[in-house]
Amino acid sequence: MENRKSYIENNKDRFINELIDLLKMPSVSADSAFSQDVLNTAEAVKISLEKAGCDHVEICETPGYPIVYGEKIIDPSLPTVLVYGHYDVQPADPIDLWDSPPFDPVIKKTAEHPQGAIFARGACDDKGQMYMHVKAMEYMTETGTLPCNVKFMIEGEEEVGSEGLSWFVPRNREKLANDVILISDTGMIANDIPSITTGLRGLSYVEVEVTGPNRDLHSGLYGGAVANPINILTKMIASLHDEDNHVTIPGFYDNVEELSSEERDQMAEAPFSLDAYKKALDIDAVYGEKGYTTNERNSIRPTLDVNGIWGGYIGEGAKTVIASKANAKISMRLVPNQDWNDITELFKNHFESIAPKGVTVKVTPHHGGQGYVTPIDNIGYQAASKAYTETFGKTPIPQRSGGSIPIVSLFEKELESKIILMGFGLDSDAIHSPNEHFGIFNYLKGIETIPLFYKYFTELSKNN
Ligand code: BES
Ligand code: MN
Ligand code: MN
Repeated sequence: MENRKSYIENNKDRFINELIDLLKMPSVSADSAFSQDVLNTAEAVKISLEKAGCDHVEICETPGYPIVYGEKIIDPSLPTVLVYGHYDVQPADPIDLWDSPPFDPVIKKTAEHPQGAIFARGACDDKGQMYMHVKAMEYMTETGTLPCNVKFMIEGEEEVGSEGLSWFVPRNREKLANDVILISDTGMIANDIPSITTGLRGLSYVEVEVTGPNRDLHSGLYGGAVANPINILTKMIASLHDEDNHVTIPGFYDNVEELSSEERDQMAEAPFSLDAYKKALDIDAVYGEKGYTTNERNSIRPTLDVNGIWGGYIGEGAKTVIASKANAKISMRLVPNQDWNDITELFKNHFESIAPKGVTVKVTPHHGGQGYVTPIDNIGYQAASKAYTETFGKTPIPQRSGGSIPIVSLFEKELESKIILMGFGLDSDAIHSPNEHFGIFNYLKGIETIPLFYKYFTELSKNN
């Protein structure tokens, strides 16, 4: 398959420039100021799929942002791969912390990426990874090596909860029928340690508001005599973990699956350096649930974290005031079997129950989703494993991730197929953070590896 390598080598500058053009489009789904840019990005993705050789491409409307759907059916008796990705990105804030503008991509070298990385919002999550599939498709159609049928389903609301897609999928089961779902929206351990993601955590995201007096008060005249919502909120939040960093919400761990010691031993074999981890984050110690390792804490264990907290005076200088309200946004990462609706309910009941007299508490649920684990004894995983082994020269390690792609469990339920998570990002790529980037090596390696997945999946299907 030297053919594939030379095709990539001959076209890599164009592949990079096309991705750069896509990254210039600020498709921030969370902020309505960018709604036209999100729609324009859908249009650009549509054109790219047409150019890559899809026979039929359309923009499918939903109650939210549209889905870009494309397909090439070469023979209905052959297997069909459904590719999912997202063209929306996270907000770029805080912009001040970017070394270069988030929607003006630049290529720079980093310690992890000596061959250079593209810096821009969405470079890794998920435009760069989604576009690897478009270019892999181009390669296969241009060289006549596409071995099976392909469908693309690229959405524009992943970063805000995939509501449009949750509406679209159950209404289009026939159209989306497939033998395997392929997604590149996760990561791998390191450029010389390939891994395949075998699990995602679920998510429950809530917002809380604590209200005390009906107006802001002078902190001298009233301080000490009425409940201060910020004091109360922080105390309530602090009580959500015990001294061993277990979550204290009654029932929170009820359905959590404990891994066997064999499974934990297997996990511990994945290469990991605690020193390098601490060094990369400039911390002198890790912190988390007692009895679990860092890699367990961030993948097989559920968590509760404050993502934002506000209230009172935060301007320059000092203002003596007791605020009327205090707020926080809280995420709970869940593991398979924990139902996100149940957990949201448990949180709400518990949080309301611990509020002292003198304040009122309001809990507003946001989006959420179930976790996902995929077995490795299926031809989808085997095809991915063979593909990585060939391009990286090493067998990839199966690894459960801490992140969430809530729509994945819906795919499994509605479309009844296995989901294969072939991620090529690194944890250090700073997704959702300032200076997000995606390695050129990773981008090109992805384009090289994906066609092999198609090849091996088609071959293994024949024997099944
Ligand atoms: N691609 C990420 C999820 C991810 C990243 C999984 C790396 C595994 C490894 C996705 O775009 C994402 O950011 N998901 C959100 C949830 C969503 C509902 C906003 C998350 O995990 O916070
Ligand atoms: Mn993503
Ligand atoms: Mn994301």
